[in-house]
Amino acid sequence: MADRLKQLTNHLQDNNSNMSVTAETWESVPLAPPDAIYKLTYAYKDDTYPQKVNLGVGAYRDDNNKPWILPVVKKATERLLQDPNLDHEYLPITGLPEFTSAGARLVLGPDSPALLEGRVSSVQTISGTGANHLGALFLSRFYQWEEGVQKVAYVSDPTWVNHFQIFRGVGIELKTYPYYDPATIGLAFEKYLAFLKAAPRRSVFVMHACAHNPTGVDPTREQWTQIADVVLERAHYVFFDCAYQGFASGDLDNDAWAVREFVKRGAPLLICQSFAKNAGLYGERVGALHIIPPDGERAQSAGARSASGLFEEWKVDIKTMAERIIAMRKELHRLLTEELKTPGNWDHIVNQIGMFR
Ligand SMILES: Cc1ncc(COP(=O)(O)O)c(C=O)c1O
Repeated sequence: MADRLKQLTNHLQDNNSNMSVTAETWESVPLAPPDAIYKLTYAYKDDTYPQKVNLGVGAYRDDNNKPWILPVVKKATERLLQDPNLDHEYLPITGLPEFTSAGARLVLGPDSPALLEGRVSSVQTISGTGANHLGALFLSRFYQWEEGVQKVAYVSDPTWVNHFQIFRGVGIELKTYPYYDPATIGLAFEKYLAFLKAAPRRSVFVMHACAHNPTGVDPTREQWTQIADVVLERAHYVFFDCAYQGFASGDLDNDAWAVREFVKRGAPLLICQSFAKNAGLYGERVGALHIIPPDGERAQSAGARSASGLFEEWKVDIKTMAERIIAMRKELHRLLTEELKTPGNWDHIVNQIGMFR
């Protein structure tokens, strides 16, 4: 018996040594490239200049250059802490249903035909980045790509830099479509539209729902309507990245206009939703992915706690942030043009939207 045991132990040890992970196993793993924004943030922290301003990271700051905790978020947090029924149990696989359905109503509008017809599938995600990742993975696995051809999606030139790693990481090559025109500091609309028309039918286009990052340049409603015409004509798929709802204009409905227009017109699309900026919840990673097939294709319904009853207060806080950004843009424009009489045209400062450019 003892011999048998010894034999078995030796056998197991041999097997283990064959499978053992050594330092060499990981030698070929490349070092991740340094993140330029975080590098800048560390340099900023080390800098002792009293009037320093960090323009690297896209996060809202108050007049004292400090993060602003929304009063409504404070209130909701207090409520949660006092709630005797709060537990830390596992949620369903697609997340907290009250949260995902409230997220869908927020971006689509409570009267959305897609919601009323039960066509929306929603999943809780790790903020907007997680929604982008899951959305890209979903398309990579399940979109009807042409057999034997490299999967390709299109992003605006320029776009949020992380789109590249996210899509390429799931096997979708990203190419760019014309978007920003440096000559007008505005939208290269004709080129954008021509590109949409010329792209192969059923192409996937990533579009920023509002407050385009990094240009701050959004299509007008009239331009969105024309974009939707071509999307429908060419049967393209729209991957809406919605990271700034309410934060752009101060009005949640206004900032969701483009998404709702596309849904109303029956374009097949998905929406990546982030609550980092509009709720000031950067670190909590609160987000959702909503997938909406066109009319007739009924979704298998894939499917909040703290915010219930506080919605109106949240809208006031969002307005506070957006209006301050708009007021700062106006003031900068006034200083440059009226006070300093700086040569050149500075109108783009007031025409652009959100925190960028
Ligand atoms: C266009 C865009 N998409 C998605 C995100 C994702 O943000 P988060 O993961 O913080 O929600 C951001 C954040 O800056 C963004 O600008």
